[in-house]
Amino acid sequence: MGKKKLTTAGGRPYVEFDNSMTVGNRGPILLQDYFLHEDLAHFNRERIPERVVHAKGTGAFGTFTVTHDISRYTKAKIFSEIGKQTKMFARFSLVAGEKGSADTERDPRGFALKFYTEDGNWDLVGNNTPVFFIKDAKKFSHFIHTQKRDPKTNCKSPTMVWDFWSLNPESLHQVMILMSDRGTPFSYRNMHGFGSHTFSLINKENEKVWVKFHFKTLQGVKNFNGKEASDMKATDPDHSQRDLVEAIERKDFPKWAMSIQVMTVEQAKTYKWNPFDVTKVWSHKEFPLIDVGTMELNEIPQNYFRDVEQSAFAPANVVNGISYSPDKMLQGRLLSYPDAHRYRLGVNYENIPVNKCPYMVANYQRDGQMQVGENGGANPNYRPNSFDDIVVDESYKERPMNLESNVADWFDRNENDNDHYTQPGILYREAMNDQDKKNTVANIISAMSGISGEKKEEIIKRQLCHFFRADAQLGMAIAKGLGVSIDEKTMGIKHKKIVSKMKNTAKTKDPVKEKKVYPSNDHIGSDCDSDHTGKDNNSDHSDGDCDNDETETTEKKGKSKGKFNKPGREVSPDTTGIDTKADKTKSK
Ligand code: HEM
Repeated sequence: MGKKKLTTAGGRPYVEFDNSMTVGNRGPILLQDYFLHEDLAHFNRERIPERVVHAKGTGAFGTFTVTHDISRYTKAKIFSEIGKQTKMFARFSLVAGEKGSADTERDPRGFALKFYTEDGNWDLVGNNTPVFFIKDAKKFSHFIHTQKRDPKTNCKSPTMVWDFWSLNPESLHQVMILMSDRGTPFSYRNMHGFGSHTFSLINKENEKVWVKFHFKTLQGVKNFNGKEASDMKATDPDHSQRDLVEAIERKDFPKWAMSIQVMTVEQAKTYKWNPFDVTKVWSHKEFPLIDVGTMELNEIPQNYFRDVEQSAFAPANVVNGISYSPDKMLQGRLLSYPDAHRYRLGVNYENIPVNKCPYMVANYQRDGQMQVGENGGANPNYRPNSFDDIVVDESYKERPMNLESNVADWFDRNENDNDHYTQPGILYREAMNDQDKKNTVANIISAMSGISGEKKEEIIKRQLCHFFRADAQLGMAIAKGLGVSIDEKTMGIKHKKIVSKMKNTAKTKDPVKEKKVYPSNDHIGSDCDSDHTGKDNNSDHSDGDCDNDETETTEKKGKSKGKFNKPGREVSPDTTGIDTKADKTKSK
């Protein structure tokens, strides 16, 4: 008694486990051995599609605790009072690799959070970096193709990667972070997390502010350098997974401090950067971090597939008091994630335990594949009806949105918004110490050395130009490492005034009178997510001739009217004066 019988999925007890039913000792297997068929058939169906990105990852349950009152900005119940605790689930991941890829690959890390709040699940699906490679959702699939495998060789291709980045200089900021040691975190516990996009907070008076979410690791930032990361791939490809599981199992629960940056709607209108551009950060000096709470991870799921593989996050899942912004990337993501989940997990993915809102869900969605819940029971499946008491609560409605234009068109995302260089330059010069700089340059050289083929020179020249425009010394160091000779006379890049003070015309008064700023002494690992230094810098590249029009030239020559672009100018990488000697280029 007490022992469980081994059964089929239908509950029929097994009478034999080890051997198939055959005709005689050495004869063929009989079709009627259903135990065998069922086992083989179920096994064949064990894999579901892996996530098209962020396939390799790990997850844990935890608790979010409010430590500071931010109810003047938001009516979200999760933040309603100091001390309030909310159950949550986090999944960390790599972006590009497949499900079996190594944990220490150079890649951004996903930082996806699901908070189970009374007003529904709030998903904050961020990364360990405050910015991203592109600023329009239309670029996403193309960008990701370059991160995956070459269609012919089925190998990773540095040529595709750098070709895309060099043709989309908006990527430079994220590329710089990725190429620093921050691109190879020691573990998931030792990295910060960011909501990255601008979102909005809405308070009880229905007043809105723009917000960015930050999660600072309380374990301290710790990164591998390039070699250590590479070595770890061979030693333990599951290093980050193992690290998280082991820490939680020994009750060394990892914690992050959550804070926000707040910008008023008025401030956003005049801020020197487009506040809805995910390739940019907001100055921490102008928009100081405001403490909110602590997130602790304290439970490893008992079953990885059930809770981690089947977890489904969606930026569309916001709650009363937290909402979207016009960020073009965020807007694209609102659509993309639920669509991905319907494909990967099926239309009823919100009913899977890890995704299910533990509070009330009431609607008229019924049926569909894998409907294993109550499916609405005997309740009406149409609306309006005379039987149920489900109401629409208009108190949850946001104020109507004022838009600045009534013209619908395919606007150039870079028009009047094409300074891709100032923030990466500041990051390099002021947030990185000498060792960070050295490692970043070495990592870039190593990564760019993989570029090959007939377009090699062109791609290298184009990308070098972007590095030069961010910082002349950075450009020179990389060029030198790649064996590219630079003719300084013809280079034409007037980088003498790389960092010139530009009066900040924006009226960026702190709306909240909170002055708490995190210390910025851990360099690249810490506050390069701010304006990197808090200094009011802006570069003055407008007198530079390194003007090969960021690539958009290939799409729209002469159309952009931005600061760096000379309208109508025919652009060739040669205008940079950078002389790439293919034969001199190191190839590893
Ligand atoms: C328009 C741009 C983007 C699109 C279309 C997009 C699309 C996707 C898709 C389809 C998935 C797989 C979902 C699944 O199958 O479960 C995914 C996963 C993910 N994305 Fe994005 N993504 C975009 C940009 C971003 C950005 C900017 C961030 C971070 C700031 C980000 C963070 C993540 C994370 C963390 C995951 C993994 C979530 C998990 O752990 O399950 N993505 N993305």
